Amino acid sequence: MANIERLRVFAASAAQSIARHGQNENTVLAEISPALAELVARDDFLPEAYTRPHPQFYQQYLLYGDPAQNLSIVSFVWGPGQKTPVHNHRTWGLVGILRGGELSTDYAEHNGRLTPGETELLSPGRVVAVSPRLGDIHQISNAHEDAVSISIHVYGGNIGRIRREVFLPETGEVKPFISGYANTYVPNLWAEQ
Ligand code: FE2
Repeated sequence: MANIERLRVFAASAAQSIARHGQNENTVLAEISPALAELVARDDFLPEAYTRPHPQFYQQYLLYGDPAQNLSIVSFVWGPGQKTPVHNHRTWGLVGILRGGELSTDYAEHNGRLTPGETELLSPGRVVAVSPRLGDIHQISNAHEDAVSISIHVYGGNIGRIRREVFLPETGEVKPFISGYANTYVPNLWAEQ
């Protein structure tokens, strides 16, 4: 059985950090990054329902969202070879790798054109940040063609409901994007163990 208590403790510490320092992104990221690294260092807390890949689409399962929509914690599940489009977030976000491995490519805007930076292989335990201030446009791919990869993402808003954009760097096309969530029900973080 999943050790859901670890996820509850992480959600509580992230919510406390935002309640104290919500206006100060540097402090919030500095506090939540190590807590997320600690969470994903052990693959024992995620219930099986939030680890399931879809044959066609990568999945985003909401694990926790605060009612004020200042925090969302999401399990991203990539089936073999699946990837996100190039996209932005319009809020800060942290990505903590839990299972498998992911390829992350940041994009920078130069003269109205998006150019990719280096592609980095992210392994379990690793945490990376995005935000409109740090660089908000990236693409994440499953590094594996034959295995599922999972990462836990934390955002400074209700990421499934934020109006944001998908980019087609080859053509310069920009499309509006609201990601939604794959699940109807969230896990019970308060379940007795
Ligand atoms: Fe992203």
